[in-house]
Amino acid sequence: MPPVALRADPVSAPAPACRLESPAGARAFSVVPPAPDWVAPGVTRKIAAVLAERPATPCLVVDLDVVEANYHALRAALPEAAVYYAVKANPAPPLVARLVALGSSFDTASLPEIDLCLSLGADPARLSFGNTIKKARDIAAAHDRGVDLFAFDAEEELRKIAAHAPGARVFCRLLIDNAGAEWPLSRKFGCSPAMARDLMRLADRLGLRPVGLSFHVGSQQTDPAQWDPALEAVARLFADLRADGLAPTLVNLGGGLPTRYGRPVPEAAVYGARIRDTVARLFDTAPDLIVEPGRGLVGNAGVLETEVVLVARKDAAETRRWVYLDAGRFNGLAETEGEAIRYPIATDRDGDGAGCGPVVLAGPTCDSVDVLYDRADVHLPLSLAAGDRLRLLSTGAYTTTYASVGFNGFAPLEAHYV
Ligand SMILES: Cc1ncc(COP(=O)(O)O)c(C=O)c1O
Repeated sequence: MPPVALRADPVSAPAPACRLESPAGARAFSVVPPAPDWVAPGVTRKIAAVLAERPATPCLVVDLDVVEANYHALRAALPEAAVYYAVKANPAPPLVARLVALGSSFDTASLPEIDLCLSLGADPARLSFGNTIKKARDIAAAHDRGVDLFAFDAEEELRKIAAHAPGARVFCRLLIDNAGAEWPLSRKFGCSPAMARDLMRLADRLGLRPVGLSFHVGSQQTDPAQWDPALEAVARLFADLRADGLAPTLVNLGGGLPTRYGRPVPEAAVYGARIRDTVARLFDTAPDLIVEPGRGLVGNAGVLETEVVLVARKDAAETRRWVYLDAGRFNGLAETEGEAIRYPIATDRDGDGAGCGPVVLAGPTCDSVDVLYDRADVHLPLSLAAGDRLRLLSTGAYTTTYASVGFNGFAPLEAHYV
């Protein structure tokens, strides 16, 4: 099953074109049981076995051993930090159950995510209601279920929490720069340090326990140094809050750990070492650390299998073909928005000797925004034809739940967890 990489990316495809250099992040797993058994770049033996049965497409196949190995690698990289899996990345019950069994905690975005974790045996004391935008009745329901840790970044939200989860632990999210992130999360979330200071003092007056601060350096953050300025802001604010008579201890490092798409990314150990050094440099007393990985835990665990529906040209003289798949922006591949996330691609025709040529890759719906890659300069085999299979690698995160319920009549993305 030879792979085809996105050729626009010089790092992943240096020597022969149409090649992905090594299994996604495989080196990070080699020392940790159960070691996923990579049989091709981005594809484990278990995933290959499911694909060999020619499952109906489009479908996502996720190897939970990869998730487990990622979890162990992160624990080893940042042993002081409690891992709160960001459920939104992939809320599949078998995946969440595996993480419950491993002792993970969970960052949840909504009451249904809280109920999902609880139904799979998670302890409510290990859940954080990390969304800064919550309905009052959902705060009350979460608190009734035993959830005691809530995020906020605005006064009205804080007052809702004080009213509906009295005495709860709260942390304030800081607005920080997301430079270096391929999927930035800045602007919408967080508040300035000055506002955070005022709100933390207000939380105390409202009878809440203002335990600490959080931030998110942006998803698919490829630069481990990006945690430094955020931690510097947190350390300064901790000092100010102590001067105000508060005793913050919690530093929530957020998500942002990357997965391997086309381009190699630093391993978890590199991020862990950098964050640990920075924390040791900035804090006199070791804070309680939380890390909220989503993509970094599950991204490289999944393969999205699709079928080519049509290969066409807009004019006989055009060299660039249009390849239309049975999966697109509305059934799992929303993160191709702006061509931000560039999944490595493999097809059954790779290496068949026919050579590769440039394509525009598009989804199956009658919506013109349903184009996956146009500027990305994707090259695919010239022999590719309707009915062939094409797989997108490293698709374990932010795919199944981004699928619409039935746009143009296409069903949500099926998934298999092995
Ligand atoms: C509060 C919070 N924590 C963690 C994450 C996970 O981020 P990532 O997938 O980049 O690890 C997100 C993603 O949106 C988030 O909103």
